[in-house]
Amino acid sequence: MKIAVIGTGYVGLVTGTCLAETGNDVTCVDINQQKVDMLREGQSPIYEPGLQTLLHRNIAEHRLHFTTNLAEAVSEATIIFLALPTPPGGDGAADLSYVLGASRDIALTISSYKVIVTKSTVPVGTADKVKAIFKQYTDVEVAVVSNPEFLREGVAIEDFMKPDRIVIGTTDETAKGLLNELYAPYVRQGNPIVFMDERSSELTKYAANSFLATKISFMNEVANLCEKVGADVDMIRLGIGADERIGKRFLFSGIGYGGSCFPKDVQALARSASENDYEFKILNAVMDVNALQKSVLVSKIKAFYGDDLTGKTFALWGLAFKPETDDIREAPALQVIDELLSSGAKVNVYDPEAMKNVEQLLGATITYAENQYDALNGADALLILTEWSVFRNPDFIKMSNLLGSKVIFDGRNLFDVAKMNDIGFYYNSMGRAT
Ligand code: UGA
Repeated sequence: MKIAVIGTGYVGLVTGTCLAETGNDVTCVDINQQKVDMLREGQSPIYEPGLQTLLHRNIAEHRLHFTTNLAEAVSEATIIFLALPTPPGGDGAADLSYVLGASRDIALTISSYKVIVTKSTVPVGTADKVKAIFKQYTDVEVAVVSNPEFLREGVAIEDFMKPDRIVIGTTDETAKGLLNELYAPYVRQGNPIVFMDERSSELTKYAANSFLATKISFMNEVANLCEKVGADVDMIRLGIGADERIGKRFLFSGIGYGGSCFPKDVQALARSASENDYEFKILNAVMDVNALQKSVLVSKIKAFYGDDLTGKTFALWGLAFKPETDDIREAPALQVIDELLSSGAKVNVYDPEAMKNVEQLLGATITYAENQYDALNGADALLILTEWSVFRNPDFIKMSNLLGSKVIFDGRNLFDVAKMNDIGFYYNSMGRAT
């Protein structure tokens, strides 16, 4: 099938590349010429495991193309995916200007039936707005479909190739048939394609992310309570997760959720609710808990050293909002760094992938280590902020020799508490004994 994908951000690039991988002819469009040139050379602008290999293969086999020419890409395609950003506007509502602007540009160029698929995360009612734009600018018949993506950064290729489900919101029968055919290779293992109306599909995406964020904030509160009553959150996670109604996954307490999706989507759903005269009370609590959770580690540090951290140096392991990505958007690490610096401390950081992004943002306000051990040199304590695998089984003897004192504040519960105490570390983790 001939496909156009508008926007080569994270979602657009993964979608376009994975659709080419099953034999479709895909053209990805972006307004950024430099980015398009880079992609034509097979260079991925983002770090995503497996993406580079698929890019090379599909470009070499002439199934995957990149261009700035929207009209050309769109005229040849039957299905057009919109994968454009929907950043939060000043009032917390998603800004639809990119999605609606691209819809107008497409409407002005098409001359035959097209299926317009919104992949971007958009508030309920956006499909109607997109339909209205097409009505305004063209007489050509189009189907406007909501098809939210559920990709996780770091495992996006796997999530696309083997999705738990595919949600398609449309009542257009031709569009249903075409998308069923397009997605058939991805649901071989019996996972469903769930067809529904556009509004339910749009809301499904927000409900999924907000529910997962709720799980995280809930477990973070359980962890905070555990520390007060002397219980162990990891045991509670196992104890409740074995109940299939709760599920084992997404119950890890930590220093709060970050990234480009959860914070934005929880806020947008709460906002959508209030616009419709409904107060989504749980979501307000989820956001409040998350904001506080990002400060928990620094509060513990201040309880240990006192409020004034002048003269102290902290080594930070992990900056990305989660492992296997270089993404630092809404990363809890940024708040931790900010709070440490404003309390007078010095910060020396290491992350396997996110150093460049952090350096661009924070420059010389902090120092950047060559590797995880180099970060410890002369530091008063180690803080663990992202659960990268390389941090899971470190050389503790080497660490003891490098650190000024054997103190670790672990925001991701990487080590066994009893073992850490045995080898003489002061080890403060989340929701467990010290
Ligand atoms: C999330 C969703 O998981 C995807 O299904 C969705 O498609 C995507 O948003 C999106 O809307 O585009 P992502 O932001 O890549 O994916 O990251 P997650 O793996 O979901 O992690 C989000 C945050 O929650 C991270 O900061 C992570 O550290 C935190 N988290 C996750 C926890 O604190 N505890 C957990 O148990 C799980």
